[in-house]
Amino acid sequence: MKGIILSGGSATRLRPCTKVTSKQLLPVYNRPMIYYPLNTLIKAGIKEILIIVAPERAGDYLNLLGSGKEFGVKFTYEIQDEPKGLAEAFIIGEKFIDEDNVTMILGDNIFEDDFSQDIKSFKSGGKVFAKKVHDPERFGIVEFDKKNKAISIEEKPKSPKSNYCVTGLYIYDSRVIEAAKSLKPSKRGELEITDLNNWYLEKGELEVAMVKGEWIDAGTFDSLLRAQNFAKEKMQDKMVI
Ligand code: TTP
Repeated sequence: MKGIILSGGSATRLRPCTKVTSKQLLPVYNRPMIYYPLNTLIKAGIKEILIIVAPERAGDYLNLLGSGKEFGVKFTYEIQDEPKGLAEAFIIGEKFIDEDNVTMILGDNIFEDDFSQDIKSFKSGGKVFAKKVHDPERFGIVEFDKKNKAISIEEKPKSPKSNYCVTGLYIYDSRVIEAAKSLKPSKRGELEITDLNNWYLEKGELEVAMVKGEWIDAGTFDSLLRAQNFAKEKMQDKMVI
């Protein structure tokens, strides 16, 4: 299993704090934000991790994280020239993924759970992680059956079919590369992860697991503030880095 942290993007919702730095380098209590998703991957035993960054921030990431030796893993870096969508990660990461399975986590997502079991037992297909939310119109929403097989996924639906949103952690087999390459940009000009998930769903190969603990997407000022407090109160004993 290989790992990808997607840590580019434009972070417009956190301006001006992100005018001269990357969102995922901002502090979340006593660590840079990216340490939390990195911790999720390293805790699950992933040793080879690709970090995808925006060109103007690449030097900062290299200075902060280095080769990975300090963490007992190996980092590879790639540039995403423009934020053209989450699914582009698998085109950028083609050589890195090669023929292995891959877990991708978003650089601004903080999870309380330990996903070691899901990641270690993964065989093939796709797997997404869902969390119940009160405002499903704002998220990618997944509907699933009793066996946790996905039935539908819709991006920001007006009439949501469930209250479960897809969080920023995804596991795929290496077919994800060909799937990503087959996608067309959406109306907002991005390669959408929802379309990628639908590629697996149409084949009946998209599984849904539940996020049991807290999950915070730290992309707004309010959620960043929540993340800070949560990291202080609940995450300190869960960090291996
Ligand atoms: P978003 O929060 O959806 O986008 P953003 O970070 O650009 O922020 P804003 O909406 O405020 O402008 O992105 C989720 C995560 O994925 C975040 O960690 C940034 C990353 N990302 C990329 O690395 N490349 C991309 O093309 C996109 C869309 C996001």
